[in-house]
Amino acid sequence: MEIKKSLLLDRNLALEAVRVTEIAAIASSFHMGRGNEKAADQSAVNAMRDFLNVLDVSGKVVIGEGERDKAPMLYIGELVGKGKTKVDIALDPLEGTSITAKGGENALSVLAIGEEGSFLHAPDIYMKKVAYGYKYEELEIDIDDSPEKIIRDFSNFSKIRQENIVVCILDRRRHEELINQVRSTGARIKLIPDGDVSAVIATSIDDSGIDLYMGVGGSPEGVLAAAALRCLGGKIYTKLIYEDNKSFERAKKMGVKSKNQVFKTNDLAKGDVMFSATGVTDGTLLKGVRIDKDNAYTHSVVMRSETSTIRYINAKHNLNIKKYKSYFN
Ligand code: FBP
Repeated sequence: MEIKKSLLLDRNLALEAVRVTEIAAIASSFHMGRGNEKAADQSAVNAMRDFLNVLDVSGKVVIGEGERDKAPMLYIGELVGKGKTKVDIALDPLEGTSITAKGGENALSVLAIGEEGSFLHAPDIYMKKVAYGYKYEELEIDIDDSPEKIIRDFSNFSKIRQENIVVCILDRRRHEELINQVRSTGARIKLIPDGDVSAVIATSIDDSGIDLYMGVGGSPEGVLAAAALRCLGGKIYTKLIYEDNKSFERAKKMGVKSKNQVFKTNDLAKGDVMFSATGVTDGTLLKGVRIDKDNAYTHSVVMRSETSTIRYINAKHNLNIKKYKSYFN
């Protein structure tokens, strides 16, 4: 059998990527349930940055913790790694800061790596999203259609009766109308407090119990979720929401053409991409970090768009040898 070697991204990089999300997940998990979102996030950022900097790539953070002046580390534009291959990096060291602070479900540490130019340089503003899983990939929808029509189209295509469809929505005031519209179709709803990367991914996980994701969340999270769907299969449709002209002007500088532009999965994350996530707290996709007397245990997934290989990795980290507690500050 001929073993195909990736043209661009070295496949061993996938294992290195897991190390990065593992350490960020462990570092933030020390803060689980302690009520301190900032500290949990900061620990994840510190740990992720240290481990990114030993990767054998020349990486540029394109989706990160924010603009340089507001984020001291892992800011957009920051260069990481010690190698030569140029890659773009989208990351969220802790997706679900308040979930972690409360000890809730579905907090993840997330990293996506792609060829240069892979990821939409989305400004950190809100984004309207509709996503569904790999089984329904042939279905085309119009994100501007009403939720009622989208659910009808999804039901006709998937052959799942409307009343059996489960739509996942972030529990936010801004979604009151959406929730009423979805309920009027008879569909069922799973409201989540936070964490829409995990919710979008769940549409492509067979026994997740989630068929559709709808609503407005962060745009960096939209890009990360798209990177995951490129590997898992599934579709996401998105539209950036501009609160004022200033945010549109910023988006224009990042390559956005019009206010009405629709970004689909491949517009958000194109080319050869890899995606790694480690569970911080228990969730649909992954188990959270466990810690006992001497060890931390992690559960991660790493996948590549080129091959669609989905690899789950369980790891045991000896905390006496690896001084990860130093990230707990
Ligand atoms: P953080 O981890 O940055 O707190 O993001 C959590 C999250 O729930 C995302 O999953 C989601 O896209 C976004 O916040 C929604 O934003 P908001 O909390 O402002 O509604």
